[in-house]
Amino acid sequence: MRRKLVFATNNAHKLAEVRAMLDGVIDILSLDDIGCHTDIPETADTLEGNALMKAGYVASHYGLDCFADDSGLEVEALGGAPGVHSARYATDGHDHRANIAKLLAEMRGQAGRRARFRTVIALMEGGRVHCFEGEVTGQITTEEHGCNGFGYDPVFLPDGHAKTFAEMSDGEKNAISHRARAVAALVDYLKSLRP
Ligand code: IMP
Repeated sequence: MRRKLVFATNNAHKLAEVRAMLDGVIDILSLDDIGCHTDIPETADTLEGNALMKAGYVASHYGLDCFADDSGLEVEALGGAPGVHSARYATDGHDHRANIAKLLAEMRGQAGRRARFRTVIALMEGGRVHCFEGEVTGQITTEEHGCNGFGYDPVFLPDGHAKTFAEMSDGEKNAISHRARAVAALVDYLKSLRP
């Protein structure tokens, strides 16, 4: 029987990405699949802390091995903000337009525009914790370019590329993204455990 592992999310896009990369090696269950309909708290002040909170919640309430992710945009000139607060930078909701407007306003007049996206994945396995990380470095543009993707994609220009994330296709972004890199590290580890 194939091993089962919970991914503490109901985000269809993230689930499909991980399932495709594991290619039938491990069955990935969503929060819906295990009947978890709680809004799991994410109140830590680091990406690591939030990923651990989510994975730990499932492990302790359901007794299942689990992993969870948390991502954010860290801007050097803003001391790493919005960071762990990326989703709720401007408002209480996930208002991407307002978040971008606030970021561009904070960056007005800043000479240094270096930034990175970072993803942390925490895996709780047999009571032990493993963390995996992925990042992509780049620059914050002075205005929005492109309309693909989500979040801060229209203002993030990855190093070595002439297009923002929002001007890239899904395939182009996934080849270099922070999330894809963290997922790849997790998948390498999980595949290495196979008998
Ligand atoms: P999450 O942990 O994947 O839900 O990401 C938290 C927040 O970080 C999102 O709501 C976005 O504001 C931002 N973010 C994370 N990954 C990306 C990305 O790939 N592009 C743009 N924004 C992102």
